[in-house]
Amino acid sequence: MAAPQRPLFVLTNRLPESAVALLREAGEVRSDEREAAIPRRDLLDLVAGAEAVLTLLGDRVDAELLDAAGPQLRCVANVAVGYDNVDVAAAAERGVVVTNTPGVLDEATADLTLALILATTRRVVEGDRLVRSGRAWSWGMHFMLGGGLQGKLLGIVGLGGIGRRVAQRARAFGMRIAYHSRHRAPAEVEAGLEAERMPLERLLAEADVLSLHCPLTPETHHLIGAAELAAMKPSAVLVNTARGPVVDEGALAAALEEGRIAAAGLDVYEREPHVERRLPELDNVVLVPHLGSATVETRTAMAELAARNAISVLSGQGPLTPVR
Ligand code: GLV
Repeated sequence: MAAPQRPLFVLTNRLPESAVALLREAGEVRSDEREAAIPRRDLLDLVAGAEAVLTLLGDRVDAELLDAAGPQLRCVANVAVGYDNVDVAAAAERGVVVTNTPGVLDEATADLTLALILATTRRVVEGDRLVRSGRAWSWGMHFMLGGGLQGKLLGIVGLGGIGRRVAQRARAFGMRIAYHSRHRAPAEVEAGLEAERMPLERLLAEADVLSLHCPLTPETHHLIGAAELAAMKPSAVLVNTARGPVVDEGALAAALEEGRIAAAGLDVYEREPHVERRLPELDNVVLVPHLGSATVETRTAMAELAARNAISVLSGQGPLTPVR
């Protein structure tokens, strides 16, 4: 009797070895090994015949890709918590389960958010550029002053797993916490963080640091545009480690140029990897290349969770972390 056919898992990028090992135990693995984003045509060819595809946030998973995979496709396991790259309705129409990787990247992303808050408020990168430039400088009473965090208000947009970890860390720096979220956080979370829920208008007007942690959806696209930036304090700092299109990048560049807000720390961009050309020209902006979850431990945990999701779906046990 012929051995039962092993399912095919397709990986659109090279994943950590431990995740690949899990998949190899459960089936065959076909993987694109290049580090850079895979060109669309190659991606469509790669997924043909897959029962499960493990995708990255730069892979557009739409009807075209789902059809290129074929009718045997049962799972798209996105190796990211955000899944704005996936057309969930098109997947559902084809009976394809979509999963993401919530939870495992909260700490790393919160750490990077604090790094951006500190880098912007204490002018770390600007100082590094000055020292490297070889230009003269000396300690001075009024030299390169930033702003302290003690007693300042951190406004969090989206108090999910990442937003809560950011709030916990910020409290250790003496910050007060307020948030805006579609749903009210559980009472014990609010109490533990001493966090006040506010309408966005009030949060914009009162926050000293505004940090974005909401998913990208049609409702949150350009949530922060020219009007919202104008409503912020001129001393305020905007930090975005969520998704680029939540902020109107052109409006942000204009606000920073005109000193309508003090600084911005960005990990994500509207049209990654393109960055609005005025931003790198500005001293009051810290720019990092989408590194929120980029630690060895976190990327390993994300890939393993995606692998376990795909295996669980194909074995009939259902997804561990389906998207909602
Ligand atoms: C990273 O940006 C993620 O959504 O996991």
